[in-house]
Amino acid sequence: MQLIDGKQTAAAVRQEIAQEVKELISKGEKQPHLAAVLVGNDGGSETYVAAKMKFCKEVGFKSSLKRFDETVTEEELLECVNNLNQDVDIDGFIVQLPLPDHINEEKITEAIDPKKDVDGFHPQNLGRMITGAPAFISATPQGIMELLSRYNIDTEGKHVVVIGRSNIVGRPMSILLSLKGKPGNATVTVCHSRTADLASICKQGDIIIAALGIPEFLKADMVKDGAVVIDVGTTRVPSEKTKSGWRLKGDVDFENVSSKCSYITPVPGGVGPMTIVSLLLNTLKAAKKEIYS
Ligand code: GUN
Repeated sequence: MQLIDGKQTAAAVRQEIAQEVKELISKGEKQPHLAAVLVGNDGGSETYVAAKMKFCKEVGFKSSLKRFDETVTEEELLECVNNLNQDVDIDGFIVQLPLPDHINEEKITEAIDPKKDVDGFHPQNLGRMITGAPAFISATPQGIMELLSRYNIDTEGKHVVVIGRSNIVGRPMSILLSLKGKPGNATVTVCHSRTADLASICKQGDIIIAALGIPEFLKADMVKDGAVVIDVGTTRVPSEKTKSGWRLKGDVDFENVSSKCSYITPVPGGVGPMTIVSLLLNTLKAAKKEIYS
């Protein structure tokens, strides 16, 4: 069994990005610039956005944070999005989700200029992804593709079982792996809460992507010998051993599943660290006008 080390891979990719930023600047190009919009004081969102800003600094990007109270109106937020769309210094931006209930997330997402949509949530980027055209791909699926690629995991002709059909992980993952390409060219089955006999389908998977959000759902008897297992779960469970009072648990029963695998991602330290790296990669692509030329 080989562990897929997302932490180490993410650090290596950040170094590559930092090097590329240096080269851009030495050629007289402007510093890539990512902006984030944060509404309210949700602890999780605060932590994520702070980490995104920290890693921007590490790789040499400029970053800006636009904060709003949770009482912000939809109109005010749309005005902010429009200003960011127009701002020529900003290459890409994100509106951190979730937003308060009185704000229509879809409306805000669709107001973002697709050329600056480094989260890859805009329908134009989703549509382009489906057709295999250049597109901003959302953070988690892109992070997983990067791990598969960097660990040289062959997906061609393989049976990939994706557990979970969310808009931001399961469904895009199933599309990316069935597209022509490397990684890609896989035969993909998407399982979800209404799937009959899920265990026997999982057992047929050469590669299993567990993205359903139920801690330790994937058990050893659901996995065939030599399978590649990618764990996308990040549920916070109470823990007396940590200062925060919680720790992360994946969707895979790692202790019992790992010995059967050829490759497996741990939680934490697997897919998670790759997600912010994906956002940085997208921002670099936006600055270089690689997706929309
Ligand atoms: N909330 C949780 N994950 C994400 C993400 O990747 N992007 C945004 N904008 N909000 C999130």
